Amino acid sequence: MRIRRYEPRDLERVYEICRRTGAAGGDATSLVDDEHLFGEIWAAPYVTLEPEHCFVVTSDDGIAQGYILGVRDAVDFEDRCEELWWPPLRDRYPKDPDGGTLKDLLIALIHDRPEPRLDLHDRYPSELHIDLLPVAQGKGHGAALMDRLFTSLREAGSVGVHLGVSVENTRAVAFYRHLGFGEFDCDGITRTFVMDL
Ligand SMILES: CC(C)(COP(=O)(O)OP(=O)(O)OC[C@H]1O[C@@H](n2cnc3c(N)ncnc32)[C@H](O)[C@@H]1OP(=O)(O)O)[C@@H](O)C(=O)NCCC(=O)NCCS
Repeated sequence: MRIRRYEPRDLERVYEICRRTGAAGGDATSLVDDEHLFGEIWAAPYVTLEPEHCFVVTSDDGIAQGYILGVRDAVDFEDRCEELWWPPLRDRYPKDPDGGTLKDLLIALIHDRPEPRLDLHDRYPSELHIDLLPVAQGKGHGAALMDRLFTSLREAGSVGVHLGVSVENTRAVAFYRHLGFGEFDCDGITRTFVMDL
């Protein structure tokens, strides 16, 4: 396997990886009858609006088996999403105010965006997502992707990075701790981890 920059030909695979790791690290395909919904929220805006901080790990045939997606400034990124990314998705995925399924909850996230984490902005302005398919896990690729992104963010002048992880994803939580991330806070659903760059 090797690491390279994200390329537009990886887009469909990025949606797939996001879906297949969307259930606290496990496959969420059977949970939502929409192949793209996970990726529309947690992957595609990153590779579309800030591809310079997105990297994939590929098998020998060049197919992506995992990715790390970063943004230099999470507050600025959300502003750009508000302008460019969410409006067409809001038309495509109308909100059902009475809906209580997982799909409804994901669609609600397209309409009602969480407040930007201004408390993180000065010291940990950047944000990342990392997901590897099972075939690529446990072989050092996660750590190597982190190194690659950290270099890229440092070169762009960032001083720190944060990420959110489901409290249920105990494996990823242990991975972040092992790499030296510190826990900034936890709201009972999401743990926020931070790292100085
Ligand atoms: C979590 C994930 C990114 C970790 O990547 P990985 O490639 O499997 O991890 P690596 O093999 O690079 O591990 C790097 C180091 O962390 C350690 N590590 C990995 N997982 C660990 C765990 N659960 N507990 C303790 N240490 C762990 C490894 O032992 C290794 O240590 P070493 O460098 O000292 O030998 C990957 O397994 C994954 O994508 N999982 C599914 C999707 C997911 O949960 N994404 C995160 C969503 S927030």
